[in-house]
Parts: sequence; C-alpha cells; structure tokens
Amino acid sequence: MAEQVATNITWHEGEVTRAEREKNLGQKGVTLWMTGLSGSGKSTIAVALEQVLMQRGYHAYRLDGDNVRHGLNKNLGFSATDREENIRRIGEVTKLFADAGFISITSFISPYKADRDNARKLHEEAGLPFIEVYVAVPLDVAEERDPKGLYKKARAGELKGFTGIDDPYEEPENPELHLHTEKLSVAESVQMLLDVLEQRGILMS
Ligand code: ADX
Repeated sequence: MAEQVATNITWHEGEVTRAEREKNLGQKGVTLWMTGLSGSGKSTIAVALEQVLMQRGYHAYRLDGDNVRHGLNKNLGFSATDREENIRRIGEVTKLFADAGFISITSFISPYKADRDNARKLHEEAGLPFIEVYVAVPLDVAEERDPKGLYKKARAGELKGFTGIDDPYEEPENPELHLHTEKLSVAESVQMLLDVLEQRGILMS
C-alpha cells in the first residue's frame, strides 16, 4: 500500500450528500470490477454494458486498462510494482466515479489478489458497493483468441512477463459474479451484470 507522504493536509467536507446525488441521477454509485486474463472478454463486455446502460438512461463510465495506460498511467509498465501501482490508482479513481454516483466499470487484468482486495477495502470504507466480476476463461481459450497477437509474441519470447505465460494471474476466490465467457455470449454476460445491478438496487428508476 502507498504511504501517505503529504503532511498538514485537512479533509474538506462538501454540502452535497450521496443520497442527493443518487436522487438526481436515479441510480446508485457502484464499481463493477472486472478481472481476468488478457483476451478473456473484459473490455468487450464493459463496452456492451456501458452502451446498454446509457440507452436505458443510466450513467456509466468505463475505465479500461489499455486506455488508462495511454494517459494517467502512461508512466507504468508491467513489473509487479508497476501493476500494483496501476491497480492502486484505478481503485482510487473508480471509487471517485462511484462516489459521484456513476456505474463505474473497470476492465484491468488486475492479476494480484492483494491489489484487488485493497480496491475493495477502499470502497467498503467509503460505504460504496464493489462488485468483483471474474471474467473467467481457460488460458488456452484466451490464447486461441489472442486478439492483439500478444500471446503469440509471449510464446515466441518476444514479450517478457506476460500474464498467464510467465507472469502470474491469481484467481479471485469469492467474486460476486463469474462470467465464463467461453460458454456465454456477450449479450448473456451483459444481462447477468444487469441482473446483479437490479438485485443490488443500483438502478433506482
Ligand atoms: S494489469 O496487469 O496492470 O492489470 P492492464 O489491465 O492495465 O494490466 O493492462 C493489460 C493490457 O496491456 C493487456 O490487455 C495487453 O493488451 C497489454 N499488455 C502489454 N504487455 C503486457 C504484459 N506483459 N502482461 C499483460 N498485459 C500486457
């Protein structure tokens, strides 16, 4: 965990309550944290879910691993410490989106359990719902899909430290939802996510 470096800083409370924000938006803030191997379908499902939610009048936003690494996290690579920092920052950013009342959908490999648990803890401490979604696919299926050709490169030794090949992926032990994407269509996965949001009372109107 990152240390608090700055001293002499004071939390400044606002006047707008979470309930007021939620009433205005007609929904509750939440983080849907998708984790899984590269090629498991995280980003595809996140894109489809975001679109459906918007079409139904809800407010959703995606934080995608590859995208965030073009900006906020452009100074991070794929070492264990950089992945930890990547996920630490995203845990904080998605918490802000959830606090703002958004349905925040993250799609990062997030291979280490401790880092995902820290993101969960941040939400729990803030009283915000955190739904861990394991986008589960056998490695051979992800490798067969290989949408970016990266597994091929990793097998050829041209890409070192690739998750699932020569870098670990620690499976979630108790995710709120398992999506077995080798057996589910994208639409079916999206429906399962919508069902969870309904059951949790996130979609208020
Ligand atoms: S994480 O491990 O830190 O959570 P993140 O989700 O941000 O990873 O980024 C993963 C994406 O970066 C992959 O989908 C892939 O396109 C790309 N990538 C490039 N190098 C690697 C690598 N060594 N391991 C995993 N993904 C990589």
